[in-house]
Amino acid sequence: MNKKRRILLLKGLVWLLGLAPAVWLVWRGFTDRLGANAIEEVLHRLGDTSLIALLVALSITPVRRLTGWNILAPLRRPIGLFAFFYLTMHFLWYAVIDEELALEFIIEDVIERPYILAGFTGWLLLIPLAITSTKGWIRRLKKNWQRLHRLVYLSTGLGLLHFYWQVKADTYWPIVAITVMVVLMLLRIRPRKPGRERERTVAAERPRQEPLAD
Ligand code: HEM
Repeated sequence: MNKKRRILLLKGLVWLLGLAPAVWLVWRGFTDRLGANAIEEVLHRLGDTSLIALLVALSITPVRRLTGWNILAPLRRPIGLFAFFYLTMHFLWYAVIDEELALEFIIEDVIERPYILAGFTGWLLLIPLAITSTKGWIRRLKKNWQRLHRLVYLSTGLGLLHFYWQVKADTYWPIVAITVMVVLMLLRIRPRKPGRERERTVAAERPRQEPLAD
C-alpha cells in the first residue's frame, strides 16, 4: 500500500475512533442507559474524552520521534480538532444543560471556583489554536504559528489541574493523566545539537502543513 493510502486509512481510523464516544453517548441517551444522574454522566464523559484526545494529540510527536513513524504526523490535526470538539461540547453541556444558561451563575462559578476557572481558561486558549489549524494560517503565521500552538501545553496543563481539583476524594485518574503528560513532556526534551546539524534538525521539525502543535 502506498503512503498516501496508508495516511488516508489512518485518518479514517481517527475519524471512527473520534466519533465513537459521541455515538456511544447518544446511544446511551436514547436507550436510557446514562444512569441516575444523566446530566453529570454526559458532562464527565465529555470531559474525559477531551482530555484523552489532548494527550493522544500530544503523544504523536514523541511517538513519531521514538519510532520513526512519520506517517503519524498528519494525524495531529484531526485528533487535536476532536479534542477541541469534545471540549466545546463539555463546556456547552455545562453552560446550557447543567446551568441552563444562567449567566450570573456561570460567571460566579468561573470567578469563585478555581477548578472551573482553570478549565475555562484551558478551553479559551484552545480557541485560537483551532481557528489557526488550517494550512492557510500556517502559511500566514510562519514561525509565529509554532509559537502560538505551544499554548496547547498550557491548555492541557490547565485541563489537568481542573481535573485534579474537581475530584472530591479519589485522585487516582487525575494522577495517572498528570503522569502521562509529564512523561510526554520529558520525551520531548532532546540534547542540544551544535551548529549546522541542529539547524537541519530544526528545519526538519517545522510543520509541513500539518498543524496542531509539535
Ligand atoms: C482544557 C479544558 C478542560 C478539560 C481537559 C476538562 C476535563 C474534565 C474532566 C476530565 C472532568 C472529570 C470527568 C470525570 O470525572 O471523569 C471534568 C469535569 C468537569 N468539567 Fe471540565 N474540562 C475542561 C474545561 C471545562 C470547562 C471550560 C468547564 C466549564 C466552564 C468545565 C466544567 C466541568 C465540570 C462542571 C465538571 C464536573 C465537576 C463535578 O462533577 O463537580 N470543564 N472536566
